[in-house]
Amino acid sequence: MRVFTEQCRTKMGVACQVLLLVALPILLSLSTVTFAQQPDSGQSPEQLATVCAACHGIDGNSTTTIWPKLAEQHASYIARQTRMVRDGQRSVPVMLGIVAGLSDADIDKISGYFAEQQIKPGVADEDLVALGKGIYQSGLPAKGVPACQACHGPVGNGNPASQYPMLAGQHADYTAARLKSYRSGVINGEDDPYSPQMVLIAENLGDHEIEAVSSYLEGLYDQRQ
Ligand code: HEC
Ligand code: HEC
Repeated sequence: MRVFTEQCRTKMGVACQVLLLVALPILLSLSTVTFAQQPDSGQSPEQLATVCAACHGIDGNSTTTIWPKLAEQHASYIARQTRMVRDGQRSVPVMLGIVAGLSDADIDKISGYFAEQQIKPGVADEDLVALGKGIYQSGLPAKGVPACQACHGPVGNGNPASQYPMLAGQHADYTAARLKSYRSGVINGEDDPYSPQMVLIAENLGDHEIEAVSSYLEGLYDQRQ
């Protein structure tokens, strides 16, 4: 660029300098585009969501119970988790190839789409409800487990402002697997402020307690107002 500018000044005069003034900003902006993140694909939210449908269902209701339902989940939570998977902070090997090329703008669109779908609630196991409800509403004080509802809300709606996900209606198998993962200390990248909160909560839960609270949560959806 410097050689070109020099030649322009010395040999070719005013016309060239005018050209340069016009061309330079365009060249610079082109190079910014080239190095910036993936641009918005221009596809509609529903078109984009079809690549997620094989596992999460096109209406956000997965049929395999170890794959989470995304329907009605907070858009900001879906987007944050999807970005963490894309950026290698949350390890979901089967999903990585699908999200690797997505821009932030497309992830926001997909997340908004799933947040607007309706969750198909499940049912709780009657034998586990009493224990599960007790843990959810009051925690296990003797073991240092706090009440889940303190953060996730009395009917499991969560709180998007604090990144507390909705838990009501989620597959019990997924919830239990997630709690066991937190219990074993798995967090989403070193700087993540959210997953360490759940590690501290899950570390004192036993297998049976995890099963009970997860089952209670799957049936909790119907109690929402
Ligand atoms: C091949 C299957 C597969 C595909 C396709 C897939 N996912 Fe996933 N996804 C998973 C699995 C499995 C998990 C749960 C991993 C775990 O247990 O931590 C998951 C978890 C998630 C979570 C975390 C949910 C929560 O409650 O924490 C989000 C958000 C998510 N996926 C979004 C997406 C989006 C958006 C797409 C499409 C762009 C997509 N997934 C495509 C398999 C898939
Ligand atoms: C201090 C607040 C707090 C309390 C109390 C709390 N949680 Fe959480 N929970 C969070 C946060 C923050 C996240 C998001 C963590 C992340 O991004 O990985 C979360 C995530 C979860 C998830 C993952 C959901 C998903 O879709 O992947 C489950 C399951 C969960 N909590 C269950 C529980 C249960 C059961 C209890 C009670 C024993 C509980 N939580 C108590 C803050 C809390």
